[in-house]
Amino acid sequence: MAQIPRRRVAVVGATGVAGQQFLVSLARHPWFEVTALAASARSAGRTYREAISEASGQQRWTCEEPLPSEFAERPVVDAEQLDLSGVDLVFSAVESAAARALEERYAPEVPVVSTSSAFRYEDDVPIMVPGVNLEHAVLVKRQQRERGWKGFVVPIPNCTATGLVVALAPLVRHFGVRSVIMTSMQALSGAGRSPGVHSMDILDNVIPFIPKEEEKVQTETAKILGRLDGDRIAPLDLPVSAHCNRVNVRDGHTECVSAGLGCLAEPEEVVEVLRTFGREFADLGLPSAPPELISVSDDPYRPQPRIDRRLHDGMTTVVGRVRPDPVLPNGIKFVLLSHNTKLGAAKGACLLAEYLVHQGLA
Ligand SMILES: NC(=O)c1ccc[n+]([C@@H]2O[C@H](COP(=O)([O-])OP(=O)(O)OC[C@H]3O[C@@H](n4cnc5c(N)ncnc54)[C@H](OP(=O)(O)O)[C@@H]3O)[C@@H](O)[C@H]2O)c1
Repeated sequence: MAQIPRRRVAVVGATGVAGQQFLVSLARHPWFEVTALAASARSAGRTYREAISEASGQQRWTCEEPLPSEFAERPVVDAEQLDLSGVDLVFSAVESAAARALEERYAPEVPVVSTSSAFRYEDDVPIMVPGVNLEHAVLVKRQQRERGWKGFVVPIPNCTATGLVVALAPLVRHFGVRSVIMTSMQALSGAGRSPGVHSMDILDNVIPFIPKEEEKVQTETAKILGRLDGDRIAPLDLPVSAHCNRVNVRDGHTECVSAGLGCLAEPEEVVEVLRTFGREFADLGLPSAPPELISVSDDPYRPQPRIDRRLHDGMTTVVGRVRPDPVLPNGIKFVLLSHNTKLGAAKGACLLAEYLVHQGLA
């Protein structure tokens, strides 16, 4: 690969669950150098270490990896005051209402790769998953042309939609998919730090509702798997019935998926199609890319979040229990596991940014 000039990047929402994962993903990154850390006015003016510390002294660092030392004493700035003159690209990791205003301020100047839903449903905004719908990147040009922006906003999906589209994309391509029923068991880290989930609510429990989650999964899945028509996306005509549950797991969303295929396929054929998916993308050799997008386990007791979520640093979707579904026409069912804060948030956003840089778009 040709030498890529280093990009100066800002992490906005750097103190949150996704923001912290960005720091882990970007420490010693070969292409990206973090030049600014931003969060709310509550954190502004403090060092990063102070900003993630409670008055009691407890550090609210949520990653399994230690806080990279180069960031601990860096100042945190108010995201509303972020100076874009020293920034080539922004990673945005704040909740959607705040993200809307902030990304609208940054994108006229610089590319914004976002974990938030603020812009996901706009007609000229692709929701991108590396290796799945890279052709949708052409919408960036339309966004710039129609909005008069030098930059753009490209969001990644909701972290539950991420694993689902990675597994469905090869099935759509090879067999067609007519309908999907998905039941999720979603990790606590997906709820973020504020407000997060109270331990007394989740211990010994399952919470059968996550606000707006099912609608997001349904809408985003159809858009991501949609066909590019010129510089528009025609969403896939795919009914998705999602049941989203919060469970007592720290990281890693598990999803039980039943899919009605466009034609009859044996489980072995489905496994083969899943296993070989995304090889060309992996061959690009982008710094955050895993060697395989999907790993299929033959062990009927897998995938399990505690055992499988760290495969290839949380960037590989692990599938297991591929078998016929007798209820749906041409039905097939399986279980998948996707790391919500790695592939589903920060490292997935870094990989997407690497692709956009590689394509000369950012
Ligand atoms: N957690 C996941 O697994 C995951 C996965 C995919 C996508 N996402 C998305 O990523 C975004 C962040 O989620 P999270 O889980 O990291 O949330 P979080 O832990 O609650 O962190 C929120 C971050 O946003 C900052 N913030 C809040 N209000 C702000 C404002 N008005 N201006 C500037 N910054 C503000 C906070 O700064 P302070 O510390 O100063 O309050 C903090 O850095 C959300 O849109 C979420 O949907 C999360």
